[in-house]
Amino acid sequence: MSIHIEAKQGEIADFVLLPGDPLRAKYIAETLLTDAVCYNNVRGMLGYTGYYNGKRVSVQGTGMGLPSHMIYVSELINDYKVKTLVRIGTCGGLLEEVKVRDVVLAISASTDSSAVTRYFPAMSFAPTASFRLAQLASANAVLMNIHLKAGNVLSSDLFYHFPEEGDAYELWRNYGTLAVEMESAGLYMLASRLGVEALSILTVSDHLLTGEHVSAEERQYNFTNMTKLALSLAE
Ligand code: HPA
Repeated sequence: MSIHIEAKQGEIADFVLLPGDPLRAKYIAETLLTDAVCYNNVRGMLGYTGYYNGKRVSVQGTGMGLPSHMIYVSELINDYKVKTLVRIGTCGGLLEEVKVRDVVLAISASTDSSAVTRYFPAMSFAPTASFRLAQLASANAVLMNIHLKAGNVLSSDLFYHFPEEGDAYELWRNYGTLAVEMESAGLYMLASRLGVEALSILTVSDHLLTGEHVSAEERQYNFTNMTKLALSLAE
């Protein structure tokens, strides 16, 4: 048992999928896994362990934002010895060439969050995905007919902005950042520091240039595609 996860030792698999929404964890466990057992309900942050194509996997909700996400990731790695963590989530498209419904592979994640920047005063750390996982996801995506956009994303502390900020994302667009979300940089930083493998696979649910967004129904479909790609990385 850790502070936020009530699982016993051995109840969590070495490979864990990380959706932000705990109900998404439940949905994945019920629709894609076999023999899934719920191991966590602390704060309603549901976690399950089951099997996908015969491979033992867990799926753990993390909540939104780097601080919440990093609590679960820290405990999964430190207390439950998890070795591979794959975030699945939504993101907002920043560039014109990134379309709503696209699946984005976050090779690296820039951030405005002090949850990462506090460790590097007057310097900058580049939170980066596991190359092995990124390469495998890229190969599996071809087999699954999923077209990936791979590159840098922004992991921001803020979802909402005030009008006086102007275009909060212009700077990031100028440097080719594909999309904005709120967790990956924290995941990659912890994975680097604690010596495990991590990857974020994201679906573009809304676009910050065009204002376009997908319906709830479609989000479900696209999410399943991305989730199957994430699950294909389990060994
Ligand atoms: N901002 C931050 N995170 C997000 C967004 C967004 O617009 N859309 C989906 N996740």
